[in-house]
Amino acid sequence: MQETRLNIRGGKRLEGNIRVSGGKNASVALIPAALLAGEPCVLENVPDIQDVRVLLKILREVGAKVEFAGDTLTVDGSTMNTHAATSPTMHRMRASYYLLGVLLGMFGRASIASPGGCDIGARPIDQHIKGLKALGADIENKDGVLSAVAEKGVHGAEIYLDVYSVGATINIMLAAVLGEGRTVITNAAKEPHIVDLANFLNAMGAYVRGAGTDIIRIKGVPKLHGCYHSVIPDQIETGTLMIAAAATCGDVLIEGAIPAHMEAISAKLLEMGVRVKEGEDLIAVQSDGRHRAVSIKTLPYPGFPTDLQQPFAALLTTAKGKGVITETIFESRFRYVTELARMGADISQVGRFAYIEGVSRLTGALVDACDLRAGAALVVAGLMAEGETRIREVHYIDRGYENFERKLVALGADIERVRVDV
Ligand code: EPZ
Repeated sequence: MQETRLNIRGGKRLEGNIRVSGGKNASVALIPAALLAGEPCVLENVPDIQDVRVLLKILREVGAKVEFAGDTLTVDGSTMNTHAATSPTMHRMRASYYLLGVLLGMFGRASIASPGGCDIGARPIDQHIKGLKALGADIENKDGVLSAVAEKGVHGAEIYLDVYSVGATINIMLAAVLGEGRTVITNAAKEPHIVDLANFLNAMGAYVRGAGTDIIRIKGVPKLHGCYHSVIPDQIETGTLMIAAAATCGDVLIEGAIPAHMEAISAKLLEMGVRVKEGEDLIAVQSDGRHRAVSIKTLPYPGFPTDLQQPFAALLTTAKGKGVITETIFESRFRYVTELARMGADISQVGRFAYIEGVSRLTGALVDACDLRAGAALVVAGLMAEGETRIREVHYIDRGYENFERKLVALGADIERVRVDV
């Protein structure tokens, strides 16, 4: 049997310019949303990553036409022939559940197989269900298939989200834009890709206001139309590249980034003693390696993103002093702690806290990526470590980072993808 690994020989400074790809979490919301137009939509700056490829397979399974060349994707929902997305493909990613909101919005009924996604906690969908029920759907969850039927069609509603949820906010927006009447989502998520989705829906002829604030207002319209949209840059890839630059005492310019989306990371890197300079659509990160330890607490946007606490933990392992990571969003997002410890990090976890005491250096080891962002943390650690780090389960990394090792090699990293007999 063979397995794919990333082998990294650490200690190389990252230097030079790199362009960040389009956003994964934006793309996996925009792609299902494009079906609502009922005619071709063109999306540019779409990253060629596993989650996008899986989502395109799901769209083809429900009869849509998709064409993906380079970073340009054309989606045409006019040929869709079912309100059910129940194939096993749905379980290969988390965002497949956006088909629930889209199919309900388009046909007044929807059935989906349960989604998959990184194992970082229970990840219930009670708020999605609360919102879709408010929009007039009866929900049934039977034999792993979730069905929503709005006998009288989708109508507007006032929805208060009890939990701050990116996914629930998006699913409700997708179901409501073609519904009858006004919808108000209170305690809505404010992440950059919520705003990107609202801009895309409005370009299709929807009426969505207030995205990026706690209250999103939607007026249902009878029909939408095709449009063109460019996906925002990936906030989490940008942050990961910023952290990798700092971790290798590097000097990296990240092109195509949106500095306003990166404020929490930039602030923490500056606090550590890293130099961060912002341009209109670029961020430069330079470091001499003398880092002070800091503590971080993950929060909804614009707070420190939960998706970056893992790579940031790797950076903290060799900073001077003690740092504490508080994870407030997901209940089990510290499975990388044991892997960093294997590399010599002084790190421990108690509940939602990880405690890190800086050590002089990490040493390469054979480690396992256990989810997407844990994989990113191990790449950062491998870039820093003395000797060779061999990372297994790289398929997790491929879900969310486009050409990751190629980008790092272009910046001077000694990293290669290998197939080994096991
Ligand atoms: C999205 O996940 C992202 N995934 C995650 O990124 C990201 O970590 C997360 O938002 C937070 O920013 C995609 O966009 C595909 P939530 P999502 O609904 O939508 C609880 C990555 O690495 N909750 O905001 O699943 C939930 O359990 C991935 O790119 C409920 O209790 O996140 C969690 O504790 C990982 N009930 C918290 O809310 C619900 O109905 C935030 O979840 C929904 C969520």
